[in-house]
Amino acid sequence: MIILGIETSCDETSAALVRDGRELISEVTATQMQIHAAFGGVVPEVASRHHVEDITRVVDETFREAGSTWQDVDAIAVTCGPGLLGSLLVGVSAAKGYALATGKPLIGVHHIAGHVAAATLNSQIRPPFLCLVVSGGHTELLTVDEQFCFTKLGGTRDDAAGEAYDKVARLIGLAYPGGPKVDELAHDGNQEAYAFPRGLLDEEGYDFSFSGLKSAVNNALTKQRNRREEIDAKDVCASFQAAVIDVLEEKTRRALAHTGYQRLVVAGGVAANRGLRSRFTALASATGVEVVFPPLRWCTDNAAMIASAGYYRFQQGKENDLSLNAYAQLSLDTWQSWA
Ligand code: KG4
Ligand code: ZN
Repeated sequence: MIILGIETSCDETSAALVRDGRELISEVTATQMQIHAAFGGVVPEVASRHHVEDITRVVDETFREAGSTWQDVDAIAVTCGPGLLGSLLVGVSAAKGYALATGKPLIGVHHIAGHVAAATLNSQIRPPFLCLVVSGGHTELLTVDEQFCFTKLGGTRDDAAGEAYDKVARLIGLAYPGGPKVDELAHDGNQEAYAFPRGLLDEEGYDFSFSGLKSAVNNALTKQRNRREEIDAKDVCASFQAAVIDVLEEKTRRALAHTGYQRLVVAGGVAANRGLRSRFTALASATGVEVVFPPLRWCTDNAAMIASAGYYRFQQGKENDLSLNAYAQLSLDTWQSWA
């Protein structure tokens, strides 16, 4: 079964053809990163306009790259939420137009389900597993069952992990998106230079909080600047990153112990982080749990993961009609409850 995936929830216009949820046939992504970097973050209105300009070309190129036509496609999957509303609407409207014109089934996909499904691309991994999703918009611990149904154990109460990376990057003057740059600097820094807080670490349950950490970094930098002390960005990044990873790792360790899962997927943009990957790899070897990270190209937003998640959704017998809408806020539970 071949599914066309479309993703436009933030600042990437992406389309992909994926066979049976796992095998990539072709993928084309137009990124707006350079455009938004000038503003220090994604400007929603600008993002929507670029999606409108790019979407048809991106879909056409995906077919061209595959040497395929609409006749080869079994269904169309599109991110319908959560994300930037104007951006989502472009993808959803395009997908509805294609579905209407071709008569192919339409599948609305939850963005987080996409990030999780990314782990199955070009891989043999099968659920059940525990999944930590860490992206610019989400920090969530989920269990995923054999049918690819999700149960949320906990999530962030304020900032997402990637959001914290981007905000801290901005505090030290790094361009958007700062996550990868913080990762790079942290590699050569001293993680004990600053004692930053580990949010909610002493609290039971699987919720996260990163806004206190961001404020602590801001306060430390302001204090040093007022004293005209030199700031070593590498040490700030290393200490910040250690605080983030300590919490992610410890909460995941507890969730593994509590649920007894033997397999762990770490997905989302922040799963590209080198420090995080090495800490979770060490956690896996210490606990005997298998850890899987999606390949780097599928950690950040892409349409292959949406096509993959759309496949699992379609296998559950679920599809949408042309009344499918876009939702800036959409919980996994709400999405799963759709008939
Ligand atoms: O999954 P994604 O592309 O978009 C959302 O769904 O949010 O994640 C983007 C986020 C950004 O906050 C970016 O700074 C962060 O992932 N990110 C990283 C790294 N690469 C991307 N954060 C830390 N280290 C990285 N290497
Ligand atoms: Zn994402």
